[in-house]
Amino acid sequence: MAELKDKHWWAKWDRAAGKFDFMNRGVELRFGKDKQEWFSRAKGLTLLVAVGTGLDLPYFTKDHSLVGIDISKNMLRIAAKKCEGRKNTKLIQVDVETLSFADNSFDSIVTSCTFCSVPDPVQGLKELYRVLKPGGKMYMFEHVQSNIFWMAPMMDAMTLITRHFGPELNRRTGKNVLKAGFRLTEEVNIHLDMVKLFEAEK
Ligand SMILES: C[S@@+](CC[C@H](N)C(=O)[O-])C[C@H]1O[C@@H](n2cnc3c(N)ncnc32)[C@H](O)[C@@H]1O
Repeated sequence: MAELKDKHWWAKWDRAAGKFDFMNRGVELRFGKDKQEWFSRAKGLTLLVAVGTGLDLPYFTKDHSLVGIDISKNMLRIAAKKCEGRKNTKLIQVDVETLSFADNSFDSIVTSCTFCSVPDPVQGLKELYRVLKPGGKMYMFEHVQSNIFWMAPMMDAMTLITRHFGPELNRRTGKNVLKAGFRLTEEVNIHLDMVKLFEAEK
């Protein structure tokens, strides 16, 4: 974590941007429907965290009020092309660990393969807690560390490699959500115990 957060820690995401849509087409084919259904629960002004190249934008109606944030300029550049025809969508380059929004700004928050990637996930989640309105909900699609006895050490080992060019595979996102102060109101396994949908409330 700390060792990866040097002053160019986000450069790996800038480098990944160009091939990101191609690399992730399988994820969208496999889980797109689950994501669309889950994210349709988001209401009002919605913060879409780590929007990336905008693969999740089609899962929201065109008039949904969205603020998409990401740390990577190259990701946002590609996402901007997918915003054509979306009058109520804004994209902002910002670190989720140090958000520039006022307290209680958003009605809903959506994250999608976000907390495998944020260097200090609890700090990022604390910021999301701060900017969400009381009673507001966060909807998450995240891959997490498995509890399957042979899978967990394998995911730890693979993370030693994947963290240098992309996500960490062994995050305990459910626990991190609780550490940040949220109440976990729903948790659904959609692939073994490794790909999950979470609903959390402030
Ligand atoms: C695995 S990609 C997921 C992108 C998108 N949500 C999707 O599912 O297609 C992770 C994204 O998190 C962004 N990211 C990583 N750390 C971040 C941070 N601290 N603040 C904002 N965005 C961050 C990266 O730039 C990248 O776009």
